[in-house]
Amino acid sequence: MIQITDLYKSFGAIAPVRGVNLSVQRGTTTTVVGRSGTGKSVLLKSIVGLIEPDDGSILVDNVEVVGAKPKLLEEIRRKVGYVFQSGALYDSMTVGENLAFPLQRTKKELSWGEIKDRVFHYLEQVGLPEKLNTMPSELSGGQRKRIGVARTIITEPACLLYDEPTTGLDPQTTREISELILHLRDNLKITGMVVTHDPYCLKIVSDNVAYIEDGVIAFEGTLEEARRSNHEFLQTFFSLD
Ligand SMILES: Nc1ncnc2c1ncn2[C@@H]1O[C@H](COP(=O)(O)OP(=O)(O)OP(=O)(O)O)[C@@H](O)[C@H]1O
Ligand SMILES: [Mg+2]
Repeated sequence: MIQITDLYKSFGAIAPVRGVNLSVQRGTTTTVVGRSGTGKSVLLKSIVGLIEPDDGSILVDNVEVVGAKPKLLEEIRRKVGYVFQSGALYDSMTVGENLAFPLQRTKKELSWGEIKDRVFHYLEQVGLPEKLNTMPSELSGGQRKRIGVARTIITEPACLLYDEPTTGLDPQTTREISELILHLRDNLKITGMVVTHDPYCLKIVSDNVAYIEDGVIAFEGTLEEARRSNHEFLQTFFSLD
Protein backbone atom coordinates (compact mmCIF):
# COMPACT_ATOMS: atom_id res chain seq x y z
CA MET A 1 0.00 0.00 0.00
CA ILE A 2 2.85 2.37 0.87
CA GLN A 3 6.34 2.01 -0.52
CA ILE A 4 9.05 4.50 0.44
CA THR A 5 12.35 4.27 -1.44
CA ASP A 6 15.59 6.19 -0.78
CA LEU A 7 13.80 9.15 0.77
CA TYR A 8 15.77 12.28 1.69
CA LYS A 9 14.67 15.47 3.41
CA SER A 10 16.72 18.20 5.03
CA PHE A 11 15.95 21.62 6.44
CA GLY A 12 19.09 23.76 6.06
CA ALA A 13 21.78 22.10 8.14
CA ILE A 14 19.35 19.61 9.69
CA ALA A 15 19.00 16.41 7.69
CA PRO A 16 16.58 14.13 9.57
CA VAL A 17 15.73 11.81 6.66
CA ARG A 18 18.78 10.40 4.87
CA GLY A 19 17.78 7.42 2.79
CA VAL A 20 14.64 5.89 4.29
CA ASN A 21 13.31 2.66 2.79
CA LEU A 22 10.09 1.29 4.19
CA SER A 23 7.04 -0.53 2.93
CA VAL A 24 3.67 -1.10 4.55
CA GLN A 25 1.56 -4.02 3.35
CA ARG A 26 -2.13 -3.53 2.69
CA GLY A 27 -4.34 -4.25 5.71
CA THR A 28 -1.48 -4.19 8.23
CA THR A 29 -0.29 -1.64 10.77
CA THR A 30 3.33 -0.53 10.97
CA THR A 31 4.52 1.41 13.98
CA VAL A 32 7.39 3.86 13.58
CA VAL A 33 9.53 4.54 16.64
CA GLY A 34 12.71 6.48 17.28
CA ARG A 35 14.10 9.28 19.38
CA SER A 36 12.60 12.73 19.33
CA GLY A 37 13.63 14.77 16.30
CA THR A 38 14.59 11.80 14.09
CA GLY A 39 12.11 12.63 11.32
CA LYS A 40 9.09 10.46 12.14
CA SER A 41 6.56 13.26 11.68
CA VAL A 42 8.43 14.47 8.58
CA LEU A 43 8.02 10.96 7.15
CA LEU A 44 4.25 10.87 7.78
CA LYS A 45 3.75 14.38 6.40
CA SER A 46 5.72 13.46 3.27
CA ILE A 47 3.31 10.59 2.55
CA VAL A 48 0.36 12.97 2.27
CA GLY A 49 2.38 15.68 0.51
CA LEU A 50 2.39 18.14 3.42
CA ILE A 51 6.18 18.13 3.15
CA GLU A 52 8.03 17.87 -0.15
CA PRO A 53 11.01 15.50 0.08
CA ASP A 54 14.33 16.44 -1.56
CA ASP A 55 14.78 13.08 -3.22
CA GLY A 56 13.36 9.58 -3.38
CA SER A 57 10.00 7.99 -4.05
CA ILE A 58 6.79 7.39 -2.12
CA LEU A 59 4.27 5.15 -3.82
CA VAL A 60 0.76 4.99 -2.38
CA ASP A 61 -1.18 2.24 -4.06
CA ASN A 62 1.38 2.49 -6.89
CA VAL A 63 0.84 6.24 -7.36
CA GLU A 64 3.88 8.52 -6.92
CA VAL A 65 3.40 11.19 -4.24
CA VAL A 66 6.76 12.96 -4.62
CA GLY A 67 6.30 15.79 -7.11
CA ALA A 68 2.57 15.06 -7.56
CA LYS A 69 0.43 17.93 -8.87
CA PRO A 70 -2.27 19.42 -6.56
CA LYS A 71 -5.12 17.52 -8.22
CA LEU A 72 -3.37 14.18 -7.82
CA LEU A 73 -2.40 15.09 -4.23
CA GLU A 74 -6.05 15.69 -3.47
CA GLU A 75 -6.84 12.19 -4.74
CA ILE A 76 -4.03 10.71 -2.64
CA ARG A 77 -5.28 12.54 0.46
CA ARG A 78 -8.69 11.04 -0.07
CA LYS A 79 -7.06 7.62 0.09
CA VAL A 80 -4.73 8.41 2.98
CA GLY A 81 -6.16 10.03 6.10
CA TYR A 82 -3.86 11.90 8.48
CA VAL A 83 -4.87 11.97 12.14
CA PHE A 84 -3.41 15.12 13.68
CA GLN A 85 -2.27 14.93 17.26
CA SER A 86 -4.66 17.66 18.42
CA GLY A 87 -7.62 16.34 16.45
CA ALA A 88 -7.59 19.61 14.43
CA LEU A 89 -11.33 20.22 14.95
CA TYR A 90 -13.09 23.44 13.96
CA ASP A 91 -13.95 25.13 17.25
CA SER A 92 -16.96 27.03 15.93
CA MET A 93 -18.73 23.88 14.69
CA THR A 94 -20.42 21.15 16.69
CA VAL A 95 -18.95 17.65 16.66
CA GLY A 96 -21.63 16.60 14.15
CA GLU A 97 -20.85 19.54 11.85
CA ASN A 98 -17.13 18.79 12.12
CA LEU A 99 -17.81 15.25 10.91
CA ALA A 100 -20.24 16.29 8.17
CA PHE A 101 -17.82 18.87 6.75
CA PRO A 102 -15.31 16.56 4.98
CA LEU A 103 -18.20 14.51 3.60
CA GLN A 104 -19.97 17.55 2.14
CA ARG A 105 -16.67 18.60 0.56
CA THR A 106 -15.54 15.29 -0.91
CA LYS A 107 -18.71 13.19 -1.39
CA LYS A 108 -21.02 15.54 -3.21
CA GLU A 109 -23.21 12.64 -4.33
CA LEU A 110 -24.43 11.96 -0.76
CA SER A 111 -27.83 13.26 0.32
CA TRP A 112 -28.19 15.10 3.64
CA GLY A 113 -29.89 12.02 5.11
CA GLU A 114 -26.98 9.81 4.06
CA ILE A 115 -24.51 12.28 5.55
CA LYS A 116 -26.39 12.28 8.87
CA ASP A 117 -26.45 8.46 8.91
CA ARG A 118 -22.73 8.31 8.29
CA VAL A 119 -21.93 10.93 10.94
CA PHE A 120 -23.88 8.90 13.48
CA HIS A 121 -22.30 5.63 12.37
CA TYR A 122 -18.75 6.94 12.79
CA LEU A 123 -19.53 8.56 16.13
CA GLU A 124 -20.59 5.10 17.25
CA GLN A 125 -17.40 3.59 15.81
CA VAL A 126 -15.36 5.82 18.15
CA GLY A 127 -17.75 5.25 21.04
CA LEU A 128 -19.10 8.81 21.36
CA PRO A 129 -22.61 8.90 19.82
CA GLU A 130 -23.86 11.19 22.61
CA LYS A 131 -21.46 13.99 21.53
CA LEU A 132 -23.26 14.81 18.26
CA ASN A 133 -24.28 18.32 19.30
CA THR A 134 -21.35 19.08 21.61
CA MET A 135 -18.88 21.89 20.86
CA PRO A 136 -15.20 20.82 20.63
CA SER A 137 -14.30 23.10 23.58
CA GLU A 138 -16.51 20.93 25.80
CA LEU A 139 -14.64 17.71 24.96
CA SER A 140 -11.82 16.20 27.00
CA GLY A 141 -8.42 15.70 25.32
CA GLY A 142 -9.10 12.01 24.76
CA GLN A 143 -12.57 12.68 23.35
CA ARG A 144 -11.09 15.27 20.97
CA LYS A 145 -8.65 12.66 19.72
CA ARG A 146 -11.42 10.17 19.14
CA ILE A 147 -13.53 12.73 17.29
CA GLY A 148 -10.41 13.63 15.28
CA VAL A 149 -10.11 9.98 14.27
CA ALA A 150 -13.82 9.85 13.38
CA ARG A 151 -13.46 12.96 11.24
CA THR A 152 -10.54 11.42 9.37
CA ILE A 153 -12.13 7.98 8.83
CA ILE A 154 -15.57 9.28 7.84
CA THR A 155 -14.52 9.63 4.20
CA GLU A 156 -13.38 5.98 4.39
CA PRO A 157 -9.72 6.30 3.41
CA ALA A 158 -7.92 3.05 2.63
CA CYS A 159 -5.02 4.07 4.81
CA LEU A 160 -4.59 6.05 8.03
CA LEU A 161 -1.50 7.78 9.40
CA TYR A 162 -1.52 8.52 13.12
CA ASP A 163 1.02 10.87 14.71
CA GLU A 164 1.30 10.04 18.41
CA PRO A 165 -2.35 9.08 18.85
CA THR A 166 -2.05 8.32 22.57
CA THR A 167 0.39 10.95 23.84
CA GLY A 168 -0.83 12.59 27.02
CA LEU A 169 -3.83 10.33 27.52
CA ASP A 170 -4.78 8.34 30.61
CA PRO A 171 -4.14 4.56 30.47
CA GLN A 172 -7.82 3.73 29.87
CA THR A 173 -8.17 6.18 26.95
CA THR A 174 -4.80 5.00 25.61
CA ARG A 175 -6.19 1.49 25.51
CA GLU A 176 -9.44 2.63 23.88
CA ILE A 177 -7.63 4.58 21.14
CA SER A 178 -5.21 1.69 20.53
CA GLU A 179 -8.12 -0.75 20.30
CA LEU A 180 -9.88 1.62 17.92
CA ILE A 181 -6.84 1.52 15.60
CA LEU A 182 -6.96 -2.28 15.79
CA HIS A 183 -10.72 -2.29 15.17
CA LEU A 184 -10.27 -0.14 12.04
CA ARG A 185 -7.67 -2.57 10.72
CA ASP A 186 -9.81 -5.63 11.40
CA ASN A 187 -13.27 -4.31 10.48
CA LEU A 188 -12.60 -1.75 7.78
CA LYS A 189 -9.30 -3.32 6.55
CA ILE A 190 -7.56 0.02 6.93
CA THR A 191 -3.80 0.06 6.42
CA GLY A 192 -2.12 1.93 9.26
CA MET A 193 1.08 3.74 10.05
CA VAL A 194 1.45 4.85 13.65
CA VAL A 195 4.19 7.05 15.09
CA THR A 196 4.34 6.54 18.84
CA HIS A 197 6.48 6.82 21.96
CA ASP A 198 3.99 4.71 23.89
CA PRO A 199 5.05 1.08 24.56
CA TYR A 200 1.48 0.14 25.40
CA CYS A 201 0.05 1.47 22.13
CA LEU A 202 2.89 -0.16 20.18
CA LYS A 203 2.17 -3.54 21.74
CA ILE A 204 -1.55 -3.40 20.92
CA VAL A 205 -1.54 -2.02 17.39
CA SER A 206 1.65 -3.22 15.66
CA ASP A 207 1.93 -5.90 13.05
CA ASN A 208 5.35 -4.53 12.18
CA VAL A 209 7.75 -2.12 13.80
CA ALA A 210 10.22 0.23 12.11
CA TYR A 211 12.92 1.97 14.12
CA ILE A 212 14.51 5.17 12.78
CA GLU A 213 18.07 6.06 13.74
CA ASP A 214 20.56 8.40 12.05
CA GLY A 215 18.15 9.17 9.23
CA VAL A 216 17.51 5.60 8.14
CA ILE A 217 15.37 2.63 9.15
CA ALA A 218 17.81 0.82 11.42
CA PHE A 219 15.40 -2.01 12.17
CA GLU A 220 12.27 -3.35 10.53
CA GLY A 221 10.44 -6.50 11.60
CA THR A 222 7.46 -8.01 13.35
CA LEU A 223 6.51 -6.98 16.88
CA GLU A 224 8.10 -10.17 18.20
CA GLU A 225 11.31 -9.53 16.27
CA ALA A 226 11.38 -5.98 17.64
CA ARG A 227 11.03 -7.36 21.14
CA ARG A 228 14.08 -9.60 20.61
CA SER A 229 16.11 -6.96 18.75
CA ASN A 230 19.40 -5.89 20.30
CA HIS A 231 19.01 -2.21 19.40
CA GLU A 232 19.35 -0.38 22.68
CA PHE A 233 16.44 1.96 21.94
CA LEU A 234 14.07 -0.94 21.29
CA GLN A 235 15.29 -2.78 24.37
CA THR A 236 14.56 0.29 26.49
CA PHE A 237 11.17 0.61 24.83
CA PHE A 238 10.18 -2.93 25.68
CA SER A 239 11.65 -2.87 29.15
CA LEU A 240 9.13 -0.12 29.94
CA ASP A 241 6.02 -2.18 29.23
N1 LIG B 1 8.92 22.44 8.57
C1 LIG B 1 10.14 22.32 9.14
N2 LIG B 1 11.07 23.28 9.00
C2 LIG B 1 12.30 23.16 9.54
N3 LIG B 1 12.71 22.09 10.26
C3 LIG B 1 11.82 21.10 10.43
C4 LIG B 1 10.49 21.16 9.89
N4 LIG B 1 9.83 20.04 10.23
C5 LIG B 1 10.71 19.30 10.96
N5 LIG B 1 11.90 19.94 11.08
C6 LIG B 1 13.10 19.42 11.79
O1 LIG B 1 13.32 18.09 11.34
C7 LIG B 1 13.70 17.25 12.44
C8 LIG B 1 12.73 16.09 12.52
O2 LIG B 1 11.45 16.55 12.94
P1 LIG B 1 10.22 15.60 13.21
O3 LIG B 1 9.11 16.47 13.59
O4 LIG B 1 10.02 14.70 12.06
O5 LIG B 1 10.74 14.74 14.46
P2 LIG B 1 10.01 13.53 15.18
O6 LIG B 1 10.84 12.31 14.96
O7 LIG B 1 8.60 13.50 14.78
O8 LIG B 1 10.19 13.96 16.72
P3 LIG B 1 9.14 13.82 17.96
O9 LIG B 1 9.26 12.41 18.42
O10 LIG B 1 9.71 14.78 18.96
O11 LIG B 1 7.78 14.20 17.47
C9 LIG B 1 13.72 18.15 13.66
O12 LIG B 1 15.04 18.53 13.91
C10 LIG B 1 12.87 19.34 13.28
O13 LIG B 1 13.32 20.50 13.92
MG1 LIG C 1 6.82 13.96 15.72
